[in-house]
Amino acid sequence: MNSILSELLDGVLRIEICRPEKKNALTGAMYAALADAFAAAENDPAARVVLIHGQPGVFTAGNDLTDFLDHPPLAEDPPPPVFRFLQALRTLSKPLVAAVAGPAVGIGTTLLLHCDLVYAGAGAKFQLPFVSLGLCPEAASSLLLPALAGHVRAAEILLLGEAFDAEKAREIGLINAVLPDAGVLDHALTQARKLAALPAASVQITKQLMKRAQAALIEQTMLEEGRHFRMRLLSPEAKEAFAAFLEKRKPDFTNLN
Ligand code: COA
Repeated sequence: MNSILSELLDGVLRIEICRPEKKNALTGAMYAALADAFAAAENDPAARVVLIHGQPGVFTAGNDLTDFLDHPPLAEDPPPPVFRFLQALRTLSKPLVAAVAGPAVGIGTTLLLHCDLVYAGAGAKFQLPFVSLGLCPEAASSLLLPALAGHVRAAEILLLGEAFDAEKAREIGLINAVLPDAGVLDHALTQARKLAALPAASVQITKQLMKRAQAALIEQTMLEEGRHFRMRLLSPEAKEAFAAFLEKRKPDFTNLN
Protein backbone atom coordinates (compact mmCIF):
# COMPACT_ATOMS: atom_id res chain seq x y z
CA MET A 1 0.00 0.00 0.00
CA ASN A 2 1.23 3.50 -0.80
CA SER A 3 1.81 5.30 2.50
CA ILE A 4 2.69 8.66 0.97
CA LEU A 5 -0.31 10.27 -0.71
CA SER A 6 -0.23 13.47 -2.68
CA GLU A 7 -2.73 15.72 -4.37
CA LEU A 8 -2.33 19.02 -6.21
CA LEU A 9 -5.19 21.45 -5.64
CA ASP A 10 -5.33 25.26 -5.92
CA GLY A 11 -1.54 25.45 -6.37
CA VAL A 12 -0.87 23.47 -3.17
CA LEU A 13 0.78 20.05 -3.38
CA ARG A 14 -0.59 18.33 -0.28
CA ILE A 15 1.54 15.41 0.91
CA GLU A 16 0.02 13.09 3.49
CA ILE A 17 2.03 10.58 5.49
CA CYS A 18 -0.42 7.72 5.87
CA ARG A 19 0.69 4.67 7.84
CA PRO A 20 -1.40 5.12 10.97
CA GLU A 21 -1.06 1.50 12.16
CA LYS A 22 2.66 2.21 12.74
CA LYS A 23 2.17 5.83 13.83
CA ASN A 24 3.37 6.98 10.41
CA ALA A 25 6.90 5.62 11.04
CA LEU A 26 8.92 6.25 7.89
CA THR A 27 10.50 3.40 5.90
CA GLY A 28 13.07 3.70 3.12
CA ALA A 29 10.27 3.31 0.56
CA MET A 30 8.35 6.16 2.19
CA TYR A 31 11.40 8.46 2.17
CA ALA A 32 11.85 7.63 -1.52
CA ALA A 33 8.21 8.55 -2.18
CA LEU A 34 8.61 11.79 -0.18
CA ALA A 35 11.78 12.71 -2.08
CA ASP A 36 9.98 12.00 -5.38
CA ALA A 37 7.00 14.12 -4.31
CA PHE A 38 9.31 17.03 -3.43
CA ALA A 39 11.10 16.65 -6.79
CA ALA A 40 7.74 16.65 -8.57
CA ALA A 41 6.77 19.85 -6.72
CA GLU A 42 10.10 21.45 -7.61
CA ASN A 43 9.62 20.69 -11.31
CA ASP A 44 5.93 21.49 -11.67
CA PRO A 45 5.11 25.20 -12.04
CA ALA A 46 1.52 24.41 -11.03
CA ALA A 47 2.77 23.35 -7.58
CA ARG A 48 3.41 26.70 -5.90
CA VAL A 49 3.44 25.50 -2.28
CA VAL A 50 4.04 22.14 -0.57
CA LEU A 51 2.03 21.16 2.50
CA ILE A 52 3.00 18.12 4.57
CA HIS A 53 0.85 16.49 7.24
CA GLY A 54 -0.13 13.20 8.87
CA GLN A 55 -3.46 12.22 10.39
CA PRO A 56 -5.40 14.02 13.14
CA GLY A 57 -3.73 11.82 15.81
CA VAL A 58 -0.17 11.52 14.51
CA PHE A 59 2.32 13.44 12.39
CA THR A 60 5.07 10.80 12.35
CA ALA A 61 6.88 8.55 14.84
CA GLY A 62 10.07 9.22 12.87
CA ASN A 63 12.25 6.64 11.22
CA ASP A 64 10.91 3.09 11.26
CA LEU A 65 13.12 1.34 13.81
CA THR A 66 12.68 -2.08 12.21
CA ASP A 67 13.95 -0.57 8.98
CA PHE A 68 16.93 0.94 10.84
CA LEU A 69 17.81 -2.55 12.13
CA ASP A 70 17.16 -4.45 8.90
CA HIS A 71 18.20 -1.90 6.26
CA PRO A 72 20.41 0.78 7.86
CA PRO A 73 20.90 3.61 5.34
CA LEU A 74 24.69 3.36 5.16
CA ALA A 75 25.58 3.93 1.50
CA GLU A 76 27.28 7.18 0.47
CA ASP A 77 26.71 6.97 -3.26
CA PRO A 78 24.00 6.81 -4.39
CA PRO A 79 22.54 8.22 -1.19
CA PRO A 80 19.84 6.11 0.49
CA PRO A 81 16.27 7.50 0.32
CA VAL A 82 16.41 9.18 3.73
CA PHE A 83 19.40 11.28 2.64
CA ARG A 84 17.71 12.00 -0.70
CA PHE A 85 14.70 13.27 1.24
CA LEU A 86 16.88 15.46 3.50
CA GLN A 87 18.54 16.92 0.42
CA ALA A 88 15.12 17.64 -1.15
CA LEU A 89 14.00 19.26 2.10
CA ARG A 90 17.09 21.45 2.24
CA THR A 91 16.90 22.58 -1.37
CA LEU A 92 13.16 22.95 -1.96
CA SER A 93 12.71 26.36 -3.55
CA LYS A 94 8.93 26.48 -3.04
CA PRO A 95 7.46 27.30 0.36
CA LEU A 96 6.90 24.35 2.67
CA VAL A 97 4.04 24.35 5.17
CA ALA A 98 3.47 21.70 7.87
CA ALA A 99 0.39 20.76 9.88
CA VAL A 100 1.30 18.74 12.97
CA ALA A 101 -1.08 16.82 15.20
CA GLY A 102 -0.09 14.16 17.73
CA PRO A 103 3.47 12.87 18.00
CA ALA A 104 6.25 14.31 15.83
CA VAL A 105 9.32 12.24 16.71
CA GLY A 106 12.85 12.39 15.29
CA ILE A 107 12.70 13.55 11.69
CA GLY A 108 9.05 14.43 12.41
CA THR A 109 10.41 17.36 14.41
CA THR A 110 13.67 18.04 12.58
CA LEU A 111 11.94 18.42 9.21
CA LEU A 112 9.94 21.29 10.73
CA LEU A 113 13.20 23.26 11.03
CA HIS A 114 13.16 23.45 7.21
CA CYS A 115 9.54 24.56 6.86
CA ASP A 116 8.41 28.11 6.18
CA LEU A 117 5.14 27.91 8.10
CA VAL A 118 4.28 25.35 10.79
CA TYR A 119 0.96 24.93 12.60
CA ALA A 120 0.39 22.41 15.38
CA GLY A 121 -2.56 21.06 17.28
CA ALA A 122 -2.73 21.57 21.04
CA GLY A 123 -2.10 17.84 21.53
CA ALA A 124 1.04 17.75 19.39
CA LYS A 125 4.14 16.34 21.06
CA PHE A 126 7.66 16.86 19.79
CA GLN A 127 10.67 14.73 20.63
CA LEU A 128 14.23 14.20 19.39
CA PRO A 129 15.37 11.01 21.15
CA PHE A 130 18.54 10.61 19.08
CA VAL A 131 20.93 10.27 22.02
CA SER A 132 18.78 7.77 23.92
CA LEU A 133 18.61 5.73 20.71
CA GLY A 134 22.43 5.69 20.50
CA LEU A 135 22.29 8.01 17.45
CA CYS A 136 23.06 11.68 16.87
CA PRO A 137 21.10 14.62 15.37
CA GLU A 138 20.20 14.79 11.67
CA ALA A 139 18.63 17.25 9.22
CA ALA A 140 21.07 19.93 10.47
CA SER A 141 19.11 20.03 13.75
CA SER A 142 22.43 20.27 15.65
CA LEU A 143 22.85 23.68 13.98
CA LEU A 144 19.28 24.89 13.51
CA LEU A 145 17.80 24.01 16.91
CA PRO A 146 20.44 25.80 19.04
CA ALA A 147 20.17 28.76 16.65
CA LEU A 148 16.43 28.85 17.25
CA ALA A 149 16.11 27.97 20.92
CA GLY A 150 19.55 28.80 22.38
CA HIS A 151 22.09 26.22 23.48
CA VAL A 152 20.67 25.22 26.86
CA ARG A 153 17.10 24.74 25.67
CA ALA A 154 18.38 22.81 22.64
CA ALA A 155 20.47 20.66 24.99
CA GLU A 156 17.37 19.62 26.96
CA ILE A 157 15.79 18.60 23.69
CA LEU A 158 18.80 17.07 21.90
CA LEU A 159 20.90 15.68 24.78
CA LEU A 160 18.24 14.69 27.31
CA GLY A 161 15.72 13.98 24.54
CA GLU A 162 12.96 15.66 26.54
CA ALA A 163 9.60 15.74 24.79
CA PHE A 164 7.85 19.11 24.58
CA ASP A 165 4.38 20.30 23.80
CA ALA A 166 2.96 22.67 21.20
CA GLU A 167 3.04 25.66 23.56
CA LYS A 168 6.80 25.23 24.12
CA ALA A 169 7.30 24.67 20.39
CA ARG A 170 5.61 28.03 19.76
CA GLU A 171 7.66 29.72 22.47
CA ILE A 172 10.98 28.59 20.97
CA GLY A 173 9.88 29.57 17.46
CA LEU A 174 9.57 26.08 15.99
CA ILE A 175 5.91 26.60 15.08
CA ASN A 176 3.80 29.63 14.19
CA ALA A 177 0.66 28.88 16.19
CA VAL A 178 -1.15 26.34 18.36
CA LEU A 179 -4.62 25.40 17.13
CA PRO A 180 -7.35 23.00 18.19
CA ASP A 181 -6.24 19.54 16.98
CA ALA A 182 -9.26 19.20 14.70
CA GLY A 183 -8.59 22.53 12.97
CA VAL A 184 -4.87 22.39 12.33
CA LEU A 185 -4.94 20.94 8.82
CA ASP A 186 -7.66 23.34 7.63
CA HIS A 187 -5.73 26.31 8.99
CA ALA A 188 -2.47 25.16 7.39
CA LEU A 189 -4.31 24.65 4.08
CA THR A 190 -5.76 28.17 4.28
CA GLN A 191 -2.30 29.62 4.87
CA ALA A 192 -0.82 27.49 2.07
CA ARG A 193 -3.52 28.70 -0.35
CA LYS A 194 -2.71 32.31 0.61
CA LEU A 195 0.94 31.67 -0.29
CA ALA A 196 -0.08 29.94 -3.53
CA ALA A 197 -2.09 32.99 -4.59
CA LEU A 198 0.91 35.33 -4.25
CA PRO A 199 3.37 36.04 -7.09
CA ALA A 200 5.34 32.77 -7.18
CA ALA A 201 8.70 34.22 -8.22
CA SER A 202 8.60 36.82 -5.42
CA VAL A 203 7.71 34.16 -2.87
CA GLN A 204 10.57 31.89 -3.97
CA ILE A 205 13.16 34.68 -4.15
CA THR A 206 12.15 35.85 -0.67
CA LYS A 207 12.46 32.32 0.73
CA GLN A 208 15.88 31.92 -0.90
CA LEU A 209 17.08 35.27 0.47
CA MET A 210 15.89 34.42 3.99
CA LYS A 211 17.77 31.11 3.88
CA ARG A 212 20.88 32.39 2.12
CA ALA A 213 23.06 33.20 5.14
CA GLN A 214 22.85 29.68 6.54
CA ALA A 215 22.58 27.64 3.35
CA ALA A 216 26.22 26.51 3.07
CA LEU A 217 26.46 25.80 6.80
CA ILE A 218 23.29 23.70 6.72
CA GLU A 219 24.69 21.64 3.86
CA GLN A 220 28.01 21.09 5.66
CA THR A 221 26.25 20.23 8.92
CA MET A 222 24.04 17.65 7.22
CA LEU A 223 27.12 16.00 5.71
CA GLU A 224 28.93 15.93 9.06
CA GLU A 225 25.85 14.66 10.93
CA GLY A 226 25.35 12.03 8.20
CA ARG A 227 28.90 10.69 8.69
CA HIS A 228 28.34 10.25 12.44
CA PHE A 229 24.78 8.99 12.01
CA ARG A 230 25.80 6.17 9.66
CA MET A 231 28.43 4.98 12.15
CA ARG A 232 26.08 5.32 15.13
CA LEU A 233 23.49 3.15 13.34
CA LEU A 234 25.94 0.25 13.58
CA SER A 235 26.77 0.90 17.26
CA PRO A 236 25.79 -1.70 19.86
CA GLU A 237 23.91 1.06 21.76
CA ALA A 238 21.69 1.80 18.76
CA LYS A 239 21.02 -1.86 18.10
CA GLU A 240 20.08 -2.36 21.76
CA ALA A 241 17.80 0.73 21.73
CA PHE A 242 15.97 -0.32 18.54
CA ALA A 243 15.55 -3.92 19.74
CA ALA A 244 14.31 -2.71 23.15
CA PHE A 245 11.65 -0.50 21.55
CA LEU A 246 10.42 -3.28 19.30
CA GLU A 247 10.43 -5.77 22.20
CA LYS A 248 8.57 -3.20 24.35
CA ARG A 249 11.20 -3.14 27.11
CA LYS A 250 13.66 -0.63 28.55
CA PRO A 251 17.08 -0.56 26.85
CA ASP A 252 20.06 -1.70 28.90
CA PHE A 253 23.24 0.22 28.05
CA THR A 254 25.11 -0.71 31.25
CA ASN A 255 27.51 -3.16 29.62
CA LEU A 256 28.13 -0.98 26.57
CA ASN A 257 30.86 1.65 26.45
N1 COA B 1 9.38 2.37 14.15
C1 COA B 1 8.75 1.19 14.02
N2 COA B 1 7.53 0.96 14.57
C2 COA B 1 6.98 1.96 15.26
C3 COA B 1 7.59 3.21 15.44
C4 COA B 1 8.85 3.40 14.84
N3 COA B 1 9.50 4.56 14.91
N4 COA B 1 6.79 3.99 16.19
C5 COA B 1 5.69 3.25 16.47
N5 COA B 1 5.80 2.03 15.92
C6 COA B 1 4.84 0.93 15.99
C7 COA B 1 4.86 0.27 17.36
O1 COA B 1 5.88 -0.71 17.44
C8 COA B 1 3.46 -0.32 17.39
O2 COA B 1 3.46 -1.47 16.59
P1 COA B 1 2.62 -2.77 17.06
O3 COA B 1 1.19 -2.30 17.11
O4 COA B 1 2.89 -3.76 15.95
O5 COA B 1 3.16 -3.17 18.40
C9 COA B 1 2.62 0.73 16.66
O6 COA B 1 3.53 1.45 15.85
C10 COA B 1 1.91 1.70 17.58
O7 COA B 1 2.92 2.32 18.40
P2 COA B 1 2.74 2.54 19.98
O8 COA B 1 4.10 2.76 20.57
O9 COA B 1 1.93 1.42 20.55
O10 COA B 1 1.88 3.90 19.99
P3 COA B 1 1.77 4.98 21.17
O11 COA B 1 0.62 5.85 20.78
O12 COA B 1 1.76 4.33 22.50
O13 COA B 1 3.14 5.83 21.07
C11 COA B 1 4.89 7.01 19.92
C12 COA B 1 3.41 6.60 19.92
C13 COA B 1 5.19 7.68 18.59
C14 COA B 1 5.15 8.00 21.08
C15 COA B 1 5.76 5.75 20.15
O14 COA B 1 5.32 4.77 19.21
C16 COA B 1 7.23 5.96 19.93
O15 COA B 1 7.91 6.50 20.79
N6 COA B 1 7.76 5.49 18.80
C17 COA B 1 9.18 5.45 18.54
C18 COA B 1 9.68 6.82 18.16
C19 COA B 1 11.14 6.80 17.81
O16 COA B 1 11.99 6.48 18.61
N7 COA B 1 11.42 7.13 16.54
C20 COA B 1 12.73 7.14 15.97
C21 COA B 1 13.29 8.51 15.97
S1 COA B 1 14.89 8.57 15.20
